[in-house]
Amino acid sequence: MNVLLIGSGGREHALAWAISASPLLSKLYCAQGNPGISQVAELAAIDIASHAAVIEFCKAHAINFVVVGPEAPLVAGLVDDLKAAGIKAFGPSKFAAQLEGSKGFTKDICAKYNIPTAAYGRFTDLGKARAYLAKHGAPIVIKADGLAAGKGVTVATTLEEALAALNDIFSGRFGEAECVIEEFLEGEEASFFVLSDGVHTLPLATAQDHKRVGDGDTGPNTGGMGAYSPAPCMTEALCAEVLEKIVRPTVAALCDMGHPYVGVIYAGLILTKHGPKLIEYNARFGDPETQVLMLRLRDDLLTLLLATVDGTLDKMSVRWRNEFALTVVMAAKGYPGDYVRGTEIKGLEQNFGEDVQVFHAGTTLKNGKLMANGGRVLNVTALGKTARDAQIGAYAAVNKIDWPDGFCRKDIGWRAIG
Ligand code: AMP
Ligand code: GLY
Repeated sequence: MNVLLIGSGGREHALAWAISASPLLSKLYCAQGNPGISQVAELAAIDIASHAAVIEFCKAHAINFVVVGPEAPLVAGLVDDLKAAGIKAFGPSKFAAQLEGSKGFTKDICAKYNIPTAAYGRFTDLGKARAYLAKHGAPIVIKADGLAAGKGVTVATTLEEALAALNDIFSGRFGEAECVIEEFLEGEEASFFVLSDGVHTLPLATAQDHKRVGDGDTGPNTGGMGAYSPAPCMTEALCAEVLEKIVRPTVAALCDMGHPYVGVIYAGLILTKHGPKLIEYNARFGDPETQVLMLRLRDDLLTLLLATVDGTLDKMSVRWRNEFALTVVMAAKGYPGDYVRGTEIKGLEQNFGEDVQVFHAGTTLKNGKLMANGGRVLNVTALGKTARDAQIGAYAAVNKIDWPDGFCRKDIGWRAIG
């Protein structure tokens, strides 16, 4: 079959790498892709914000299946429009993607279905939000309602900080002025990925990431400086508990609402002393978590994604390598602030060994030279028997890459290594 993958980052390179190995695949296209993805797929220069352009491309290239990587096209309803045009697509509908697109939507489901999460209030009125704040005090967490590219959350340790965050949201910085204020939870964070065909669920794997830019998890938040899988804290018993108490009730809720959730559910969790609680859902695969998941996956990804859309996940199982996978993000110096742009990267053509994959995130080709084209640029990913072995493998590869204008954290995986 012919497949079109939507997206251009490291997550999509990892998905393209896995899909390209499928026995079911005839031809893989990717819009818009990147130079790494072009090694395994034909790039298509379509404007993915134009659903009509995507549909036209699918018809012209006999595409049988579209896989949507990022959240923005899901929240914009690309899967609904493809479906209406008779094209099969992986990812939730616009309605179901609200699990990621609206924090309030998700919190209301948690309240109605008794899903463990932080206590909260949902506000469209600044005065009422301030009153809630005054009543509950700090520490407290303020969240803009909609998609904010990871920048809409403030974990406030003081009331002043919380008030400043509220003023920011109600000044309209994140679009519509709506927010969730929630209880501050303490505990280790982990991610759990589960496929849902609307009715059945198939748990995939766990991962942990490093959001802060600096070693020792210090400095400003980023889109993620590294990740590893599995998350040692997510024991089998905890995975079963999260599936039973959090993910399955959510899938049932969406079903009850008449909008079954079809796609991958990425649950962001905090393991509190009162048990696992949901912090947020994402309606797509994680970036850079997918890079580590794909290295561990032993079964055919395309078969799993098709079974998700066909509603046959109850007949599927999935196998993972017992090894650890770990990815180190190489970013342009200055990231997440104002970073250096357009600098040359050398050394990627060498053989890094069979346990290493270098996924491209923000790269571009200019006159045959590979150039950095964004903040997070490469995801250097390795498998190892232990977390430490995977870490050694990934950093050995990082050291072979010649990019003086890039940097990375030196301690990815520290929590798993101990
Ligand atoms: P989110 O964008 O919802 O993933 O939140 C970003 C980060 O804020 C999370 O990864 C947590 O570290 C932190 N966070 C979010 N909600 C809470 C909460 N209720 N209590 C403590 N930390 C939180
Ligand atoms: N790694 C965080 C995310 O994909 O949202």
